[in-house]
Amino acid sequence: MNLEDDLAYELFSEMEIAERVAALGEAITKDYADKADEGIVLICVLRGAAIFMGDLARQIKLPLEMDYMAVSSYGNGTKSSGVVRILKDLSSSIEGKHVIIAEDILDSGLTLKFLIKSLKARKPASIEVCTLLRKDTPNQADVNCRYIGFECPNEFIVGYGLDYAERYRNVSCIGVLKPEIYS
Ligand code: XMP
Ligand code: MG
Repeated sequence: MNLEDDLAYELFSEMEIAERVAALGEAITKDYADKADEGIVLICVLRGAAIFMGDLARQIKLPLEMDYMAVSSYGNGTKSSGVVRILKDLSSSIEGKHVIIAEDILDSGLTLKFLIKSLKARKPASIEVCTLLRKDTPNQADVNCRYIGFECPNEFIVGYGLDYAERYRNVSCIGVLKPEIYS
């Protein structure tokens, strides 16, 4: 049984992802070099961004905190419900700190819109988004993403942390799932 056999095609290889994540880390390191004293917090949106943030954090050559949040916008299906709920909140205060949200994929944009609003109310010094993927979704909410890993087609994407029904997160590449798997 090979998980990769369920992919219709690969979008980004393990090597391409590593190179892109290194470039994102380098950009963040440059942009935040003079902000590290005030505190930098990387916030992982569980569970999809866990692998991405783990790799990204090690490419940022500055002291930082890592914190985790879980929100629900999807059930086990593939369509956004439009309802976003906090399932697990941050462990520490972000007041006065520079927040970078690490997200796996920007689809409708509803999740990030909600998160940015909710985190802004806690008075961080700044807040930016680093998303691994931005999907080519019609009517995507206008979300300001300072850092974007890759643009991807409006298909169901799995791998490198992204799941379908909790599977495929441990696939090393990013790919499009065969439609017959979820239909
Ligand atoms: P919205 O629509 O709020 O969605 O921008 C963001 C969240 O939805 C999940 N999502 C996906 N998960 N493959 C996945 O594994 C996909 O193609 C996909 N599209 C959206 C994801 O959890 C993201 O945080
Ligand atoms: Mg997610």
